[in-house]
Amino acid sequence: MRPCDLLLTDIGQLVTMAGPPGPWRGPRTDLPVVEDAAVAIEGGRILAAGPRAEVVAAHAPKATRSARGKVVLPGFVDPHTHLPWVGSREREFEQKLLGVSYAEIAKAGGGIRATTRATRTAGVEAIVAAARPRLGRMLAHGTTTAEAKSGYGLDLETERRQLEAVALLDRAQPIDLVATNLAAHEVPDEWRHDRQGWIARLVDEVLPALRPQAEFVDVFCEAHVFSTDESRRILGRARELGYRLKVHADELEPTGGAELAVELGATSADHLACTSDQGIAALAASDTVAVLLPGTSFYLRLKRHAPARRLLDAGAAVALATDCNPGSSLTESMPMIVTLACLNLGMTPAEALVAATINAAHAIARGDDRGSIAPGKRADLVVWDAPSWRYLPSHFGVSLVDTVIKDGRVVHAATVEGARA
Ligand code: NIG
Ligand code: FE
Repeated sequence: MRPCDLLLTDIGQLVTMAGPPGPWRGPRTDLPVVEDAAVAIEGGRILAAGPRAEVVAAHAPKATRSARGKVVLPGFVDPHTHLPWVGSREREFEQKLLGVSYAEIAKAGGGIRATTRATRTAGVEAIVAAARPRLGRMLAHGTTTAEAKSGYGLDLETERRQLEAVALLDRAQPIDLVATNLAAHEVPDEWRHDRQGWIARLVDEVLPALRPQAEFVDVFCEAHVFSTDESRRILGRARELGYRLKVHADELEPTGGAELAVELGATSADHLACTSDQGIAALAASDTVAVLLPGTSFYLRLKRHAPARRLLDAGAAVALATDCNPGSSLTESMPMIVTLACLNLGMTPAEALVAATINAAHAIARGDDRGSIAPGKRADLVVWDAPSWRYLPSHFGVSLVDTVIKDGRVVHAATVEGARA
């Protein structure tokens, strides 16, 4: 009998997402499931996962927890969020209802630049205080790892404070955070007369100075923001500095952002609602993960949704994320995103759950360490109050999370133990 810290047993359906290394590609309607399963956890990692009788017989646990016949999946990974912002933009929500577009609001000084003005007034502690409840809501909706972008500072010191806040938050609560430098999110007000000057400042000063604080660099490659050539210059410099790359690509108009991401070997190309046939083909032939953000097209009421089916059919690796931000997708809920991926993007429940777990982990270069329930991986598990995994996307707008286990520890429980005997 092998000793272990925790045995999670009486699992009705264990969806392991275990498979060969690398992201999953192609269409699917089914998932790897063990019925009547158990998971043994030791030192924050999975020791064994499989049929209950076998796992129970082979382990001597210090503690045992019953999943009471419920469904267990790997914790969700949210690979695209704008977490550390300050302020709110509910008036823009109303403007949009009256027919003003996101691009028009941005042109008039709202949007990203409005949140930048608010975030610039805040010290690190204020940014932490604003972002922390968002992480609580993420956890309550089953997210155990999230990416977090700066990009509401648009000057060195505010971008630095945002990234400092991400580092503090990473240590202060259960969700693991992966930091992205998104100083190339917009051209700030004071550089509007000299956008080339801002790009020079980015490549000469901001990207080098913040290298120790962020693993990724991202660029908003979009008509009216950074052109494909400008994005190439910024991302090329980032790559030289040793950052991994991400691209906000083809969100509102097709600009060749997906092709650029592939050309530069980016870890992910994100958004892609307007990506071209060439963009789809390039992604399918590459290791760049296509991160789709159906919350954004829903929230902005866009007519075009990301071409998920065509990406899957072509063989691209598809992931999902919230894009959690104050203007274009104000939600922390990965379950809502999974539902929207099914209803608006035409993904199957199986594809959407792969995209929210193992493929989302690959979208932040963590696929070898998490995103599936397999020996050696982090013990990041969520118990769902659902009769089957297929049920999850069909029930929307509420959290069906029963228990969240992060690094082998119970960090969130929706019900008091034993309350529903
Ligand atoms: O991903 N596209 C650029 N950035 C965000 C929007 C940020 C905002 O509106 O504050 C996005 O949609
Ligand atoms: Fe975004």
